[in-house]
Amino acid sequence: MADSSVRPGLEGVLAAETRLSAIDGEAGELVIAGFPLAEFATHARFEETLFALFEDRLPTADELEAFSAELRANRTLATGTRTVVERAAEDGQSAMDALRMGIASATLARDGDEDLTDDARLAVAQVPSIVATYWRVREGQPVLEPRRELSHAGNYLYMLTGEEPSDEAVRGLETYLNTVVDHGLNASTFTARAIVSTESDVVSAVTGAVGALKGPLHGGAPGPVLDLLEETAGADDTETHLREKLEAGERLMGFGHRVYRVRDPRAAVLSSAAERFYRDGDEETAFFESARETEAAALAALEEHRPDLELSTNVEFYTAVLLHGVGIPRDLFSATFAVSRVGGWCAHCLEQREENRLIRPRSRYVGERDRSWTPLEER
Ligand code: COA
Repeated sequence: MADSSVRPGLEGVLAAETRLSAIDGEAGELVIAGFPLAEFATHARFEETLFALFEDRLPTADELEAFSAELRANRTLATGTRTVVERAAEDGQSAMDALRMGIASATLARDGDEDLTDDARLAVAQVPSIVATYWRVREGQPVLEPRRELSHAGNYLYMLTGEEPSDEAVRGLETYLNTVVDHGLNASTFTARAIVSTESDVVSAVTGAVGALKGPLHGGAPGPVLDLLEETAGADDTETHLREKLEAGERLMGFGHRVYRVRDPRAAVLSSAAERFYRDGDEETAFFESARETEAAALAALEEHRPDLELSTNVEFYTAVLLHGVGIPRDLFSATFAVSRVGGWCAHCLEQREENRLIRPRSRYVGERDRSWTPLEER
């Protein structure tokens, strides 16, 4: 007999098998495409990460070059997409809304028929160009064409700022992109899989996934983390300030996680990457030092406030520190998450279609069954 219990939020439901990422929340471990996160995130070019997710192995040098060339060839936005994104920026829409509108029109740049693999490359290549175009217009700056000699991450930074990025900034951004590219069957990834399971196309799936990612329960706390860091930088006594916030019932942004009961492994990777970035470059080391102090003070305040819970630093904390350092504006934090996660969405679309089964859960009806019809004029 079919199971008639309802699992709100589908919590605990296994809805797919995947070889893309594995999360162990108790042990604080994350594996991406078979590789433990720490080593992989620091060494892989983002193009290698994408290849590994799409093809389930690392590329040879020739394969990497061919794959990167395909991405480069797909970076330029179609005129229609550019118009939509420019309009969204002029109209004061958020970056995520502009991205949703822009990516929905990405098939305008499609060169040929609908094809899962080609569309995956197209979607991955278009997202950074859309976000950068949006930002340049919002800032009243001329929109820049992509530069073919730059890497995926390097070109994104260039299209945002108009300056050739430093190696440290590219490396820092790549570590971030590698770290958040996939994370199990989260809401946006599930959305993407549900859409392609109907045999719809990858661009539709990515558009739906952007919509899911936009929600505050999914897409991002790193903006508020930056607010917290700015607040604590101005406070005389950080720990007292944080304690007062907790006593007032506020949550400390960048701490706690639904799945990880120990330190989020992504936080550890991003913390080391941020340390390397601020140490190697001549960026604001004072900002980094102050973030470290805030983290220590927050952990002490949380431990004192809720000794019954294990509240550790989550991925958003060092995301804010690192992205701020490499020059990503606060308003683009969620959209930059999408620059990475679009790789995971597309890999899941390809995986879903390898052995497709339409995703079609059921609902339990709890409404009435014998209402009698009242004509409109009598209501
Ligand atoms: N600051 C203060 N208290 C926190 C906290 C934080 N960052 N995170 C959790 N708590 C407390 C809650 O107040 C709650 O207390 P209660 O039991 O008295 O109601 C308890 O811990 C459990 O919270 P709950 O929201 O049920 O736990 P969760 O595991 O579902 O929460 C988060 C996960 C991420 C929603 C939560 O930790 C949070 O709000 N963190 C801050 C926002 C953030 O950093 N989000 C980014 C997530 S990647």
